[in-house]
Amino acid sequence: MNKTIILGIESSCDDTSASVIRDGIMLSNVIASQAVHASFGGVVPELASRAHQLNIIPVVHEALKRAGIDKSELSAIAFTRGPGLLGSLLVGTSFAKGLAQSLNIPLIDVNHLQAHVLAHFISEGKPDEHRPEFPFLCLLVSGGNSQIVLVKAYDNMEVIGQTIDDAAGEAFDKCAKVMGLPYPGGPHIDRLAKQGNPKAFTLNKPHIPGYNYSFSGLKTSFLYLLRDKIKENPNFVEENLNDLCATIQATVVEILMDKLRKAAVDLNIRHIAVAGGVSANSALRQSFLDHGLKYGWEVYIPPFAFTTDNAAMIAITGNFKYQHADFCSIDQVPYARVSNQF
Ligand code: KG4
Repeated sequence: MNKTIILGIESSCDDTSASVIRDGIMLSNVIASQAVHASFGGVVPELASRAHQLNIIPVVHEALKRAGIDKSELSAIAFTRGPGLLGSLLVGTSFAKGLAQSLNIPLIDVNHLQAHVLAHFISEGKPDEHRPEFPFLCLLVSGGNSQIVLVKAYDNMEVIGQTIDDAAGEAFDKCAKVMGLPYPGGPHIDRLAKQGNPKAFTLNKPHIPGYNYSFSGLKTSFLYLLRDKIKENPNFVEENLNDLCATIQATVVEILMDKLRKAAVDLNIRHIAVAGGVSANSALRQSFLDHGLKYGWEVYIPPFAFTTDNAAMIAITGNFKYQHADFCSIDQVPYARVSNQF
């Protein structure tokens, strides 16, 4: 029987990535991150698309090489069509179209958020792999999104709750920035919080109905706390950095888990997953494990390599779609935003 070999390409933000998956098993996952943004304190869209242009050919070449696959063996090419930065998406989309046409193989468009959820199905060929069962809930938390997704099937996902303002990753990054930490601040807060007291300070938690989130009030509450304390002691931030990080982290995790618990009870679902860049956070991962023990949840926490943007999740989504001959035409264009259904 012919093997299904999918090349996945991801270029939605500031990581250029390519991955090869054969019959659902990942053979390679190459990621080129863009250091160019660090000095700007955030991703600069124009610089991101230029860096993708420089990276895309070597990254794809390397992914094929590490997989030991010749491009003539590929069954299809899956690419991130959106949501994301349009200039960045255009690079991956155009490259995927050109390569698929030249090889005369199908093209598969992938929703980046759907792919973050389906990252739980990436297999590295290990014996102890643990996959969610449908239906499950997925907390999707990244720099741009904070959502609770009801996942009924690989192609049937409903966003039942989402942030009405900032995303959880944005809250981490913005609080880190006012403390003078480098961008992106989430991993720095995580590291410093390990030495801090999460109950050292009190920050306001939002009161938003349903399963929606809000993080802008938390950011403001944090800013006011710093402003007041710095008036009394100009070295307040330096002297309390670990405690501040531990407090902000614990508050973000509590906000995220409160709504997720509510959704799990209301919908009577006990298979619960987490995905997206913020799922690398150690306190969030620990809270998932604690909830598993306390509430009998079956929890799914991705390996670190699949938390941030990567092409393996695009390739595995492409693999699902390939099984259903769910291909796209050459005239499909990237999109910056999505609806509540994906
Ligand atoms: O999914 P992702 O790679 O892409 C975007 O949405 O851009 O998520 C990036 C976000 C950033 O806000 C970053 O600070 C956050 O994930 N992040 C973390 C950690 N690692 C990455 N936040 C908290 N703790 C971490 N360990």
